[in-house]
Amino acid sequence: MKLGRLNHVGVATPSIDKSLELYRVMFGAEPHGPAFDLPAQGVRVCFVDTPNSQIELIEPLGETSPIAKFLEKNPLGGQHHVCFEVPEIHAAKAEFEGKGARVLGEPRIGAHGTPVFFIHPKDMGGVLTEIMETPRGAH
Ligand code: CO
Repeated sequence: MKLGRLNHVGVATPSIDKSLELYRVMFGAEPHGPAFDLPAQGVRVCFVDTPNSQIELIEPLGETSPIAKFLEKNPLGGQHHVCFEVPEIHAAKAEFEGKGARVLGEPRIGAHGTPVFFIHPKDMGGVLTEIMETPRGAH
């Protein structure tokens, strides 16, 4: 498998609005579009464009949100995951599992509308890693 483009860096935040303000003031950066809910994943997300990638701002949606614990430990928010693209999600999952990595759940539709899965940080040097199928017609 060939490592694809760094699609985005996921950043957990207690407030997308406050983070957008920070990116605006510090970098003059604007959101790619409005924030939107991903109820199946228990998060609300908003992307900020950078010249070669994106920042994915992630806010908890509901009290059982998977990022609630992260924010308990990191009240200001912080870097949560990195996301790399691959050409074909199921082939990538089989390959990572073949190498002994723990894949967290089945591929599901992520924030870009293409299937994603996560690799356990303990099998990736402490970095929670999202693997995402490259959107059709992208790049
Ligand atoms: Co992500």
